[in-house]
Amino acid sequence: MSAAAGMTAEAAVLHALGAPLEIERVRLSAPRADEVLVRVEASGVCRSDLTVSRVENGFPLPLLLGHEVAGVVERVGSSVTSVRPGDHVVACPVNHCGRCRSCRTGEPFRCADHGATQRAPGDEPRVAVGDRPVAPFIGIGGFASHALLHENLIVPVPRELPFDVACLLGCGVSTGLGAALNTADVRHGDTVLVIGCGGVGLNVVQGARLAGARRIIAADRNPEALDLAALLGATDVIDAGEVDVATAARALTGGEGVSHAFEVIGIPSTVGQAMDALRKGGTAYLVGVQRPDEVLGVPFRHFFEQKGVRGVAMGSSIPHVHIPEYADLYLQGRLQLDPLVAQRISLADVNDGLDRLTRGGVARAVIGFS
Ligand code: APR
Ligand code: ZN
Ligand code: ZN
Repeated sequence: MSAAAGMTAEAAVLHALGAPLEIERVRLSAPRADEVLVRVEASGVCRSDLTVSRVENGFPLPLLLGHEVAGVVERVGSSVTSVRPGDHVVACPVNHCGRCRSCRTGEPFRCADHGATQRAPGDEPRVAVGDRPVAPFIGIGGFASHALLHENLIVPVPRELPFDVACLLGCGVSTGLGAALNTADVRHGDTVLVIGCGGVGLNVVQGARLAGARRIIAADRNPEALDLAALLGATDVIDAGEVDVATAARALTGGEGVSHAFEVIGIPSTVGQAMDALRKGGTAYLVGVQRPDEVLGVPFRHFFEQKGVRGVAMGSSIPHVHIPEYADLYLQGRLQLDPLVAQRISLADVNDGLDRLTRGGVARAVIGFS
């Protein structure tokens, strides 16, 4: 293979909304100056992959899903300086240009020029099948044996980190831990409610634990998810299938309500529960992704009580700062990631990995490639 040649990869491609992903060979272009070719070792199956495969969200088809990737750098473009072939890396879908005001002031998660990390329309696509371009989901396209990404999305991690837990750092851990530690800046003494304890919510629980929150109340309708939440640091659990979440959370805080409530599912009814569970002046964080045009009715009484609502994207993460921190916390035994890998599967089983989320499977299925 010449230095400029592309290659093929085995991939799971979405051709039609609601259809199963199809396993096929795709063509990857050669890395451009600012791009990195990664041999994918592990790829997590996140709820956003399921949502985007079934609900119209404006993404072009065919689409290459998967956005929680860990692997090894195989080739780098001529101007890449942050990684070298052989480095172990995690991909993080905080697409950021590195040059806009947000990027330069430490807020890459608010980048004004997301498109800067993509190839221009009309250019040779990074991924193609036959003569059709395949869009890598949020700049990653991780359900494949190889991924071609912009340098800004790649973070080097220590070699001791196992790939199947490393991949979780890219989305579920960054989003959940970051929502508690960065967006909400949870402090010791705070009282925290987490509604929805899946791959992301369990990391909100861990973030609150690392911050030293006084009370960490986990709510879910799946008792297995609550067992995991208790293992990862919840001080109290609420079975949302049995009792009213807000009433139970208020009772656990002496009637006062919680200072921080995280909605980590993405449905309007649980946003209402989060608002009802807040104490005066508390804030609800919307981590779960709702339909873009969903209208969330919030009664004015909450604002009279000085409550706030805050949107969260990717846990306000600065990938190159936070992912190495989280890797250290894991290697020191202070962040638990092994219990989050509920199932290891092969790429051929990716559709089952997505379906298990609809069957109530807890935590993550992770695709392994070697
Ligand atoms: N009440 C309580 N718990 C619920 C309810 C409900 N009405 N509906 C679902 N749940 C629980 C599920 O039992 C599960 O444990 O919410 C959890 C969701 O977890 P996952 O399916 O693993 O989803 P996750 O990957 O954590 O993502 C959650 O965050 O980043 C976003 O796009 C992501 O919107 C999604 C959300
Ligand atoms: Zn920017
Ligand atoms: Zn995700």
